[in-house]
Amino acid sequence: MRSGLDEAKRFLVRTSGCQMNVHDSQKIENLLCHHGYTAAEGPEDADLTILNTCSIRDKAEHRLYSELGALREWKAERVGRVIGVGGCVAQQQGDALLRRFDHLDFVFGTHNLRWVGLLADAAGRGERTARTQESRSLERFDLPGPHPDQRASTPGRAYVTVMEGCDLFCSFCIVPQTRGREVSRPVDEIVRESQALVAQGVREITLLGQTVNAYGRHDGRRGALDRADSIPFAALLRRLAEIPGLSRLRYTSPHPIFFDDALIVAHRDLPALCPHVHLPVQSGSDAMLRRMRRRYTAGAYRSLVQRLRRVRPDIALTTDLIVGAPGESDADFRATLDLVRDVGFVDGFSFKYSPRPGTAAALDPDTVGPDAAQARLEELQSLLRGLTLAAHRDRVGQVTEVLTEGESRRGGNQRTGRDPYHRVVNFADTADPPIAAGSLLLLELVEATPHSLIGEALEAQTSVRAGSALKRRTSRADEHWRNAGPSA
Ligand code: 5AD
Ligand code: SF4
Repeated sequence: MRSGLDEAKRFLVRTSGCQMNVHDSQKIENLLCHHGYTAAEGPEDADLTILNTCSIRDKAEHRLYSELGALREWKAERVGRVIGVGGCVAQQQGDALLRRFDHLDFVFGTHNLRWVGLLADAAGRGERTARTQESRSLERFDLPGPHPDQRASTPGRAYVTVMEGCDLFCSFCIVPQTRGREVSRPVDEIVRESQALVAQGVREITLLGQTVNAYGRHDGRRGALDRADSIPFAALLRRLAEIPGLSRLRYTSPHPIFFDDALIVAHRDLPALCPHVHLPVQSGSDAMLRRMRRRYTAGAYRSLVQRLRRVRPDIALTTDLIVGAPGESDADFRATLDLVRDVGFVDGFSFKYSPRPGTAAALDPDTVGPDAAQARLEELQSLLRGLTLAAHRDRVGQVTEVLTEGESRRGGNQRTGRDPYHRVVNFADTADPPIAAGSLLLLELVEATPHSLIGEALEAQTSVRAGSALKRRTSRADEHWRNAGPSA
């Protein structure tokens, strides 16, 4: 219950979509804390609800409409409640959303996060505003540091944005419309932010960007300013990997065409760089890749995988795949199955094509019927499930290092975390006091399940969790992997 003295307005941010949106929600929450708001416990005590939206497929967009519908009642329950919509649907629809939903107070686009506090204040005065101006300026990255009241959602782990936007315009994808043109942050800012996070106890940083390895690309289309203050992506990884105390570095999502030799070699040279790459392939058919405007062939993708595996044989690869995009024949789909099988992805996200407004593919009349698309999705998912389980079974008996995240869904003393390969590992915590979220822990993998691995803490090490002792254990894990990895 809120006391009468407590005047700070309370916010709730609900997020759909990708890691970029999850991170944007963290930025929104931090901005609101700096603006004098505090986090609500739940909808009952919230004064402001923000929906941070995704429009990558129509399902995600429809989720916004049903959530907004449900919020009508929430708003009516107390005078002064405010609703804001941000993210990709906000960017795409702007004030059309305000016209369509008369109980919606404000809309802010993906380049306009920093206005959220002022827009919420204005809404409190009865002003309904949509702010969705696109910009290529770096101002949008100029955000305040972490507010002391902001709760760390994932202790020990953090996202750092290195670039935003996409200039590639794949035929099926709405992202270039919702996130605008590519903009890279200055390297010094990225390094400073990462250093500050590590000083606060962060052990794993995931670099974010729509095409993250296009960071700082010098292809003649960039402004002079960007060229001077950014460096190639692999050089950025090297700078960050040098930060003392940073145990793990990840990045998502890279595009195959920007995966250069320097990035491959970084996977050989940088112990902090995790042996996992999420590398979206979308299709295994050259005809489809051309139609999708992906700018590589299935052969080029396979060769990239080979070169990566040559330097880092144990690397775990995951991917994104689309079935049923316009023009996809059964033979095209079979080529996708072949590629998935040949590469041996450890996991993959597979989607049924969803036509998006304003994209080239949405105008393509050569559509695939819903039943065929559904059947393909099921066949692909069954193949992926088999690959995941086989990969998990192969790992049983190995020792891995897990960054703990807290209680697992199974409750009790069951904890969960991720290993360097980004696999979920569950384990029983028998330590007293319990192991804190954000700790690094060596586990022996004892069982494989379809979605995760089960680990057991190594004997005589259950109580060792942090500081210098941890470093010793980390290096033992590295040694284990050097010995256990298949040869090139
Ligand atoms: N339909 C289905 N899936 C899509 N994706 C992007 N656009 C669409 C679409 N129109 C998928 C791609 C991308 C992932 C984030 O979402 O696989 O990599
Ligand atoms: Fe979308 Fe293609 Fe850009 Fe990825 S590279 S965000 S799929 S347009």
